Order: sequence, then structure tokens, then C-alpha cells
Amino acid sequence: MIGRFDKQTRVVILTGAGISAESGIQTFRASDGLWENHRIEDVATPFAWQRNPELVWGFYQDRRRQLLDVEPNAAHEALVELEQYLDEFLLITQNVDNLHSRAGSEKLIHMHGELEKLRCEECGVVVTAMDEEYLGETFVGCHQCHNERLRPHIVWFHEMPLRMREIDVAVGDCDVFIAVGTSGHVYPAAGLLGLAQACGAHCIGINLDPPQNVDLFDEFHRGKAGEILPEMVRKWTGRP
Ligand code: OAD
Repeated sequence: MIGRFDKQTRVVILTGAGISAESGIQTFRASDGLWENHRIEDVATPFAWQRNPELVWGFYQDRRRQLLDVEPNAAHEALVELEQYLDEFLLITQNVDNLHSRAGSEKLIHMHGELEKLRCEECGVVVTAMDEEYLGETFVGCHQCHNERLRPHIVWFHEMPLRMREIDVAVGDCDVFIAVGTSGHVYPAAGLLGLAQACGAHCIGINLDPPQNVDLFDEFHRGKAGEILPEMVRKWTGRP
């Protein structure tokens, strides 16, 4: 098991829905998860948006409004402490909530998009849209062009995740790769562990249940991120 990190240790973190579970945000694949009550084909594909935009809009507006009622937890905060300790650090999240940035993470990539933002498919503008006028049930139009419907700035199934080149370079170059709260079901995110392992990184997993690619970790810690991660960060940074 790895001990204390030097400040020069290059660390890349990948987080998934499990890190926000203790803040009260549902994960996707648990028995009471989001994909139990909603079919991916109905709410999380470009075809769903074409076929039934009202349903898709309503699904994401509920999740956008929920951001006003949740707070970052001890696991989000521990990653901020780790970022501040290390010279080279990158946090890649599959999560579309805003809890990492609200906790204070700065070196952060939202590879699956962000609930806080809406995007115009006509002119490409992306707006941060959490004021009351943007949080209702009716569609909102683009201020920059004639498009009457902004879409959620979310990477849907059949779409490419964001900033993959930067992600691949960082994962390929890191010394330590840590995955927290992700089931390892959705690619390309799930493939980053294999890439890190192939490039010689020490790979650490923290998850409530063993994820499907658990055998690729050099160390696996089973339990809640909010309990395990603060303790591990104290050990890695040597801070009390
Ligand atoms: P999942 O719902 O597939 O997996 C969440 C994982 O977190 C599970 O393995 C749980 O065991 C674990 N978990 C739950 N509570 C935890 C806790 N307190 N501490 C630690 N681990 C905990 O969510 P993701 O792997 O993030 O994509 O899903 C990946 C992608 O699939 C999402 O980004 C989303 C979804 O479809 C899109 O919408 C494009």
C-alpha cells in the first residue's frame, strides 16, 4: 500500500456518482438509482431530445433544481486538500453536479458536462444558467441567436465526452491514479483505469461495492468515500 506522496507525485483522480451519494444525490445503477426509474433511451440520448424534448427537459430541470438543496461532503473537501498539497494534480469527474467546484476544486474536468450549464445547438454558446428564469418547466431560448430551446450541457449516450485528449495525456503521464465512487460501467471513463495501469501508474480504488474492473487496482478500499477519503488524504499528505 502506498504511503505518503511527495509534492511532486503526479496524481489523477476519477470520480463518479458514489462521491456525491453522501450529499444526497442518487447514483445511477443502485437498486434505487436514477436508471431504475428512467430509461436511458427516454432521457439521456440525442434521439430522446429530438423525440420528446419536454420529457428530457423536465428530467434535467429536476436535477438542476436539486443542486440548490445539496452540499459538498467530506470526500469532496478531502480532494481539495489533496489538490492544494500537490504540484501536479487533475480531477476528472463523470459527475454533472457542481459539488467539486463548490468545495473548491480548481484543476477539474467535467467529462460528462455540467448541470449548471445550458448549450445552444445552433450557435454553440454555453451559458451558466442557475437563475430562477432558467429553472422552470418551460424551455428557454438562446440570447445570442434565434434558437428557442437551449439544451442541457450534458454528454448523452452516443455523444463524445469532453476534453478527452487532455484526459488521456494526464492519465498516461500520472504516477498515481485514484478512482472514487464509480461502477466502471461507462466507457471511455471506465477505460482510464486500464490506461493508467498500462502506463505504470499505481492505481487505487475507493468504492462502496467492488466495481466491475476491480482486478486492475493495485489497492482497493471498500467503503464510503466520505469516511475513507479524508483519512487517506491525511496519510498521503502527512497533514494532521
Ligand atoms: P454508478 O451509479 O454506475 O456507480 C456508482 C458507484 O458508487 C457504485 O459502484 C457504488 O457502489 C458506489 N458508491 C455508492 N455510494 C458510495 C459512497 N458513499 N462512497 C463510495 N462509493 C459509493 O455511477 P457512475 O459510475 O458515476 O453518465 O456512472 C457513470 C456514468 O453512468 C455517469 O456519469 C452517467 C451514467 O449513465 C451519463 O449520464 C453520460
